[in-house]
Amino acid sequence: MKKFNHVIVRRPCKSVCDGITSAPELGKPDYEKALRQHDAYISALSRCGVDITILPPDDRYPDSCFVEDPAICTKNCAIITNPGAESRRGEKYEIVDAIKQFYKDEDIEYIKEPGTLEGGDVMMVGDDFYVGRSARTNEEGIRQLTDILERHGMTCTEVPLEKVLHLKTGVNYLEHDHMLVSGEFVTKPEFQKYDRIEIPEEEAYAANCIWVNETVIVPEGYPTVLKAVQDLGYKTLVVDTSEFRKIDGGLSCLSLRF
Ligand code: GLY
Repeated sequence: MKKFNHVIVRRPCKSVCDGITSAPELGKPDYEKALRQHDAYISALSRCGVDITILPPDDRYPDSCFVEDPAICTKNCAIITNPGAESRRGEKYEIVDAIKQFYKDEDIEYIKEPGTLEGGDVMMVGDDFYVGRSARTNEEGIRQLTDILERHGMTCTEVPLEKVLHLKTGVNYLEHDHMLVSGEFVTKPEFQKYDRIEIPEEEAYAANCIWVNETVIVPEGYPTVLKAVQDLGYKTLVVDTSEFRKIDGGLSCLSLRF
């Protein structure tokens, strides 16, 4: 099944070392290594039948390589978000031109103050979307998102988060009813109807895999998750994301896929 034709990424900037982190004990990202891992990420995506738009680094925003947060791309519209992290708020202005290459102006919507929303909190399951209420995404942001999605023929379900940064930190949809779940998402009632693949605590980071046209990209170093995904019948590609993990980043946040 081919679902995605386009991917947008942004190169990590030198200030990536100062990205927001909840895990300072992992140390700061090594910039050169982050670039090499980003190269490998782009190379993996290029094997999945998509064209790739590569945006230049933007040193004003240490977290700007995580393009998934300032925009959401659906089949019917794109949504420019309003990131809840103050240091990331300006990223929304820098993604608009790239989005305009693919969507007509009338199909681009905007989350407005006092709403905040980050794309890492939004998970697409066909025409239905789940949105995490998190430290970054507030009630008003969810209200606006719900309104936008419904106007464009889609639905939205709120999922309250207790522990993780973003919704997709701990739950990701691999199409065909398969859903990777870790931690607090194992028991969430909203996801009980799916074929849930429970991720062991020690590999929780790898709940953040991405499905791209029947290939699943898995972070390096998580053998249980890799095998579980392969057992589902998917072709897999493995990419090392150690430097992005140090600043709470993973495979999904590094691209917009649509
Ligand atoms: N460092 C990724 C984020 O906090 O948004």
